[in-house]
Amino acid sequence: MNLEIQKIAADKKKTKPVFDTSLGFGKYFSDHFFIMKYDAKNGWHQPKIEPYRQLTLDPAAMVLHYAQEIFEGLKAYNSKNGIFLFRAKDNLTRMNNSARRLCMPEIDIDFVYDAMKKLVLIDKEWIPTARETSMYIRPTMIATEASVGVRVSAEYLFYIIVGPAGSYYPEGFNPIKIFVSDKYVRAVRGGVGEAKTGANYAASLFAAQEAKKMGCSQVLWLDAIDQKHVEEVGTTNIFFRFDDEVVTSPLTGTILPGITRDSVIKLLRSWNIKCTERRISIDEIMKGSKDGKLKEVFGTGTAAVISPVSELHYKDEVFNVGSGKIGDISLKLYEEILSIQYGEKTDPFGWVEKIG
Ligand code: COI
Repeated sequence: MNLEIQKIAADKKKTKPVFDTSLGFGKYFSDHFFIMKYDAKNGWHQPKIEPYRQLTLDPAAMVLHYAQEIFEGLKAYNSKNGIFLFRAKDNLTRMNNSARRLCMPEIDIDFVYDAMKKLVLIDKEWIPTARETSMYIRPTMIATEASVGVRVSAEYLFYIIVGPAGSYYPEGFNPIKIFVSDKYVRAVRGGVGEAKTGANYAASLFAAQEAKKMGCSQVLWLDAIDQKHVEEVGTTNIFFRFDDEVVTSPLTGTILPGITRDSVIKLLRSWNIKCTERRISIDEIMKGSKDGKLKEVFGTGTAAVISPVSELHYKDEVFNVGSGKIGDISLKLYEEILSIQYGEKTDPFGWVEKIG
């Protein structure tokens, strides 16, 4: 495939927002995007980087009816040391895993990786340079065949949009409160919980609104069978520190295999901090909060990086975490991951690629 590149006319470029932490998350998109089409006869074809524009879809496009959609989230980092991508191929590999689960066509990882790098560099003036800001990259695939029969679409669009981003939470890197839902569930065994598909996020919205009403930023999901064991938080995986051991839920098929989750496990083990993947019951967490063993709780994700948690709200009770402040391990992880992502520290894991 030949990648066609059509650049925007200088006078058509958008006005950029102020590049500081007030950027928030996911509100601004750059001047270009990457797009390609798929149909059964031609496979993936017509790959193009072109000026950012609206998409035209048939009202019967299958994604609009049966949610055959997958996406990824990753970032480009800009510092005095250059422009960096972090574990980008792992995101594309996970996208292909999601594609298989949703009966969608896989992408050629090397080709898309190369196109993504070109897109980021074409729009590099959209990558903010302040620490804790970055360019968020959102690869997306949708089913576009016009039909309302319930079956696998024969046509797709794959595109990548990018834009400047600050902190995911208005709190920034400050502790958030989370609401443990004992009523709603996110994903069931055998379902699509481990795929990065919009349906999982649609299913999360009702409880997320309940959480907001309770003054909490996110929902902590419990398993769907007996609502006893912790799964993940709305936009992050979740870790608990009991005394000197850090634990996180295992990848049993219902939670997202987070790339930041995996990086955190590897970093902790490289520091000789015990990190165990095992089932964690909500009872153990409540007990840990009461007897002081629960020292830290933090979420991990691309958008939020490390998100310390100060309180868990469960069944009308509030469970405090440690001192309520950012814990030592959360802080160390946050600093280490950012330093690797911004190319400030040697990366012993081979996670970053300098692209500019
Ligand atoms: C990410 O961390 O990149 C996510 O995809 C979480 C959310 C914004 C959907």
